[in-house]
This record gives sequence, C-alpha cells and structure tokens, in this order.
Amino acid sequence: MGEPTIILRRGDITTLEVDAIVNAANTSLLGGGGVDGAIHRAAGPELLAETRKLGGCLTGQAKVSGGHRLRARLVIHTVGPIWAGGGQGEEELLASCYRRSLALAREHGARTIAFPAISCGVYGYPVEAACAVALRTICSFLAAEPTAFERIELVCFGDDVYRAYAELLDGGRGRGPAAESERRSADLRERIIGGLLGLVVGDALGVPVEFHRRETLDRQPLTDMIGHGTHGQPPGTWSDDSSLALATAASLVERGYDPADMMARFAGWLDRAEMSPHGEVFDVGIATSHAIRRFTDGGAPEWGGRDEMDNGNGSLMRIMPLSCYCHRLDAETIVRRSFEVSGLTHAHLRSKLCCAYASLLVAGILDGDGLEGSMARAADALGPHLPDDEAARLGRILGGSVLRTGRGEIRGSGYVLHCLEASLWAIANHQGYEAAVLAAINLGEDTDTTGAVTGALAGALYGRAAIRPAWIEGLARSAFVVDLCERLADRILLESRTRHDDPPDPS
Ligand code: APR
Repeated sequence: MGEPTIILRRGDITTLEVDAIVNAANTSLLGGGGVDGAIHRAAGPELLAETRKLGGCLTGQAKVSGGHRLRARLVIHTVGPIWAGGGQGEEELLASCYRRSLALAREHGARTIAFPAISCGVYGYPVEAACAVALRTICSFLAAEPTAFERIELVCFGDDVYRAYAELLDGGRGRGPAAESERRSADLRERIIGGLLGLVVGDALGVPVEFHRRETLDRQPLTDMIGHGTHGQPPGTWSDDSSLALATAASLVERGYDPADMMARFAGWLDRAEMSPHGEVFDVGIATSHAIRRFTDGGAPEWGGRDEMDNGNGSLMRIMPLSCYCHRLDAETIVRRSFEVSGLTHAHLRSKLCCAYASLLVAGILDGDGLEGSMARAADALGPHLPDDEAARLGRILGGSVLRTGRGEIRGSGYVLHCLEASLWAIANHQGYEAAVLAAINLGEDTDTTGAVTGALAGALYGRAAIRPAWIEGLARSAFVVDLCERLADRILLESRTRHDDPPDPS
C-alpha cells in the first residue's frame, strides 16, 4: 500500500471519478450557489430529496449522502464558517470541516476523496489562510491514519486557490522571484504536458467513432473512452495522428530541431510500425503516405504535396510538439519552422498557414494569454504571410467569428480548415478539457483528428490536471506516452533557461 497522494487539480469537482466529493454546503443542506449549486445540479433532484431528510448540519460538522447522478459514489456535505474577521473560531471550525469529512468518508469506505476550497467563495474566508488550514488538517489526519486513503484531491475552480495551494505544496519556498519563477515553470511544464497528452487522449477518444455521421452521434454522443467501433481497436488506441506527433516529439527530444530526422521517423512508423500503439499501422493518410514514399525514394524536400486537394489535416494533427518546442522563439521563426514541418507531408500554403497559426496560438496560450487573446496575437503575427485569397479563407479564424458560429455551420471533416475551426469553436463554447474535446468529436466525420487537435489546444490551455486520469491511464502504452511528453517538456524548459540566440536557419 503506497503512501496516500495529495493531488492539486484545476477543474470542476462534479466531473471527478473519486469515491467521495465534499460539498461546501450551508446549514440547511438544501442546496445553494457555488459548488453546492453545481453539485446539486449535477447529482439531480434525488440528492435534494435525500438531503431534506438529513435534518440540516451544524457549522464545522459533516453529513453523508449518495452521489446519485454524479460519478462519485458519495457526497460529504460540510458547512464551513462564514468569515467574520478571524476572531469567532473560524480557523477551528474550518479545520473541523476537513477532519469530520475525512472521518465520515473513511467510515463509508471511500479510498479517494476530492475537496473544494471550503468557505473560500461566498463565505469569504481568506484563500491563503483557508488553504493552509485545509492542508495542515489533511496532513495531520494522514499522519495519524496513513492507510485511510489512496488519494486526496484538492480541486481548484479558480487560479487564486490553485496558486495558494501551489505555494504551500512547494514547501513554502517563500514569495521571492525564485519561487515565482519556479511556479511559472511548473505551470508551463504542466501546460506543455497537457497539450501533448491532450492530443493523444483526444485522438484515442475519437478513433472508435471515426467517420460517424453527426446525426448518429447526436442520438448517442460519445461521453467516455470506448473501444472497437470503426477500426475494431481496443480502448485507448491512438492513431496515425499521435504516432506522427510522438515521432516528432521524440525527434525534438533526441535531436533538437531536425525536420529530416522527423521524416525518417515517419518512415519508420509507416514501414516498421515504430511509434505505433500495438505494433501495427491501421490508419494512414493518403497525402502523408505519398510524401513518405517520395522521401524514401530519395526525393528532395519538401516532400509534401502542393496541390489544393492536398489540404487534409495531416500536418496540423501532428504540429503540437513543434509548436511547444518553438513557443519562446520570435514569431518569424515560429512561422518559418511551422511551414517547414508542415511541408514534410503537406506543402500547400493553406496547410502551412494553419500549422503556423496553431503554433502562434500555442505560444500565446503557454504564455497565459488565454484563447481569445492568443487568437488575436496569432492573427497579427501571421498577417505578413497571408495572401488575400488565403486570408479570406481563414477569415472566420483570423477575425474570431468562428467562436460565435452556430454548431450547424461547424464541420468536423478532414479538411485542414474545418479541423482548425472545429477545434477553436469547441474550446470557446465548452468549459474545460473534457467538454471541449467531446464536443469536437461529437461533430462527427474525422473525429480522431478533430479530437487530437482540440485535445492539444485544450490541454495546453487547461494543463494536464484537467484531463481525466482514467483517460491517460487507459491509453495504449500509457507510461511510454507520458514519459515522452514529460521528457519533451523538460527539454523545452531547459532550452528556454539556457536559450542561446537561434542559429540563423540556412533556409
Ligand atoms: N468545482 C470545484 N470547486 C468549485 C466549483 C466546482 N464546480 N464551483 C465553485 N467552486 C469553488 C469556488 O471557486 C470556491 O473556491 O468552491 C469554493 C467554495 O466556494 P462556495 O461554493 O461559494 O462555498 P463557500 O464559500 O463555502 O460558501 C458556501 O455558498 O453555495 C453556497 O449553499 C452554499 O451557502 C453555502 C455557501
């Protein structure tokens, strides 16, 4: 039995697959706003019917109910203190909430439990002080009962709570610039890993329903990682999208920026099923396979097709590792390298522009500019490279109107422009990684790639913690995939710490 782990997680507690979630309730136990309201909404009316019979709850105490429609089996309702300046025993009452909740959860056989930041919302408890009480109480409970739980999750709905816990969990390294840069690096690492893992998870989610029509998915939407379906593959199987993205990541880790090495690895995948989930290649894009053939036949770069009809999403689907690798470079270099890496298999300007846009977008997201801020930044930086006809075709993206476009006008096809539009639309209109990637996949058609591209961008936006752990653990070769993503993130952080000016590219 390993040590219990305390996990810091951004997101919505109602989506978590844990044995028990804790509710920051009020003394009536009849529901309210904030997390109380979210839990009652997600659990359904049966929860209120049950809590009505509990006869309320005193501040500092806790009562248990079923989870009903939640993934969690139990809800522990506890009532935090309303902050009144600190002189009314608030600290002890808050500590009692955590202690009583843990004891009650353990009595009901829970092995995993998730807490919101009790009293940190409507009840106005100062966040840093509340998080310190929470952590101190949880740690002392675990010290006394080390085998009581396997995992305790601290769920942060807002950045303030996340930062407060991160500071504490860093062993209180103080507030100096060093601690601040440490935290920024830790956050950046989790976003890069989130982007890379988010791509593979999104791909694996979409594989079983690839080519499904939207009408079919409207009747039976995808809600979880399943298997079989279109390609008859087991759950967690990822496709050529991830194989080529991971091959790109491995090349960057081992060789730095070397497009020819990337292409050699693509050929290794196609010819020897290297970097494949189960030692076989089951799904190959036509433009990609033709380009790899030109490469193995000794042709000169660039090997990608230049025809208008060569604008499948086959380079966009694998650009994320390159985007992360270049995120700290100047915009011109980001554009130039995105063009070059797209051109390995997709050399028409439109594919190159979509890849360059995605890379510029990722640079903004990793800098913490958010989706819309990063979109505006990417559109500005791409401007000088846009002939009028291509600017018109990318208009909904560059102007941002795609975010406000109705679902009926968003396509999930294999056309590179549709894929990019669908990803941006899904993220802008759905809260969190899971909702965004499932919304993209449920558009139908080229679902593994729409899932991969949406998953990559959403993963970078929300970080690894926003991705359901069961989906990561359920991936084919999961440990290998996670390790490679972490190694690329570490290489990127190392290079940005020791950045020398980028040697002038020969091109
Ligand atoms: N998942 C996780 N955390 C959430 C969620 C969610 N879905 N929604 C809100 N939170 C966070 C808030 O951001 C805050 O950090 O939960 C923390 C607690 O905030 P509140 O829900 O406002 O709870 P609290 O401050 O304890 O006040 C309790 O508010 O909702 C009413 O009925 C409740 O009267 C009670 C009071």
